[in-house]
Amino acid sequence: MELTCEEQRMLDGKDGKGCKLAMEILVEVGQAFGAERMIPVKSAHTVLSTYKGILDAGVEVLERFVTLGARASVPTTTDPAGMDLERWKEFKVPENYAKKQFQIVKATRALGLIPCWTCTPYLCGLLPQKGDHLAWAESSAVIFANSILGARTNRETAVIDIAAGITGRTPYYGLHLTENRWGNILIDVQIEKMSTDDYNILGYFIGKRVGTKTPVIIGLKKTDRFEDYKGMGAAAAASGGVALYHIVGVTPEARTVEEAFGNNKPERSFTFSDKERDITRNEMCTAKGDEINAVLVGCPHYTITEIKKVAELLEGKKIRKNVRFWIYTYKNVELLADRLGYKQIIEKSGAAITPDTCMMISPTELWHFKTIMTDSGKFAYYAPTQVQAEVIFDSIEKCVHAAVKKG
Ligand code: F3S
Repeated sequence: MELTCEEQRMLDGKDGKGCKLAMEILVEVGQAFGAERMIPVKSAHTVLSTYKGILDAGVEVLERFVTLGARASVPTTTDPAGMDLERWKEFKVPENYAKKQFQIVKATRALGLIPCWTCTPYLCGLLPQKGDHLAWAESSAVIFANSILGARTNRETAVIDIAAGITGRTPYYGLHLTENRWGNILIDVQIEKMSTDDYNILGYFIGKRVGTKTPVIIGLKKTDRFEDYKGMGAAAAASGGVALYHIVGVTPEARTVEEAFGNNKPERSFTFSDKERDITRNEMCTAKGDEINAVLVGCPHYTITEIKKVAELLEGKKIRKNVRFWIYTYKNVELLADRLGYKQIIEKSGAAITPDTCMMISPTELWHFKTIMTDSGKFAYYAPTQVQAEVIFDSIEKCVHAAVKKG
């Protein structure tokens, strides 16, 4: 690969051993993908944040970088941690697991990472602009940054993300290049009025149909709930490997269908009408009956608007004794919910806000829930394998209805 003088300095170890190791990793990756050079990145987002995901090997990588004196050179945020960092004991997290998670917290601090512990770093002080190059891991954040913000990032993985944060570089290939961002599959949405759960279902449908290709979506009116794009993208990134979608008229690079396809013809097209919506909704539910043990929402992390909605739905109601109702978000939102009184309403109902983590990357499986209900297309996809539970997907209104005492 062709390196600039500054990048060569890093590779030669002139900026420290940690930076040298990070650059060595990136050069290997770049060579593997045929990148001719590096590109400076505005920010990085790392998934080296949860013990459940990275285990001892990941902790070792982080601590190795600390020992070698590495520091992030561009804003580098952390994905959710592997547990609620304050109330972990209430969530049955084993002591040994917590100890490892705190090792991760300590190492990220030493590396100068921004401890936002969220999969929505774009809501937490790190808002990229159109055309910015990023090195983000976390598929739901990647797809949001590419598709809604018009920034450019590949789906980075653990270790590459931190190496990019340290060097401020990533190999220049994949979605950093304009010609790799054009769409190839047409999705024609034929539903006039899309609800929030319809967006999640659409994302799930798209991921299943297009895999890792880039869909161009027509017929989808602009929504004023940006959370709908957050949920849709997360579902598409989970059920497929979608890292970028174009909604014509919404995605900054898709002002017209022609622009979205780079003037090429679509390889295939799919229709999403009431029929496909209903079939997909059924596919997303694996549970046979309707008895639930838990409602887990906030994947991706809930915004304050979503918390407000769930607080309004729960006001004056009580969650059934044998049902857990947990809402995942990040610390700033929990603080706002407290100031606004939503947290108190939620807690009075028996539900709980649990920040800094989520249902999938904390050891939720230790609760042995048989059936979980969720409003998240992404979590509906992963629940059977990651939490070993059957799943029911539905709207937040239906989730609340199923969890509260009747009468
Ligand atoms: Fe975020 Fe966890 Fe879902 S990291 S996207 S809440 S699986």
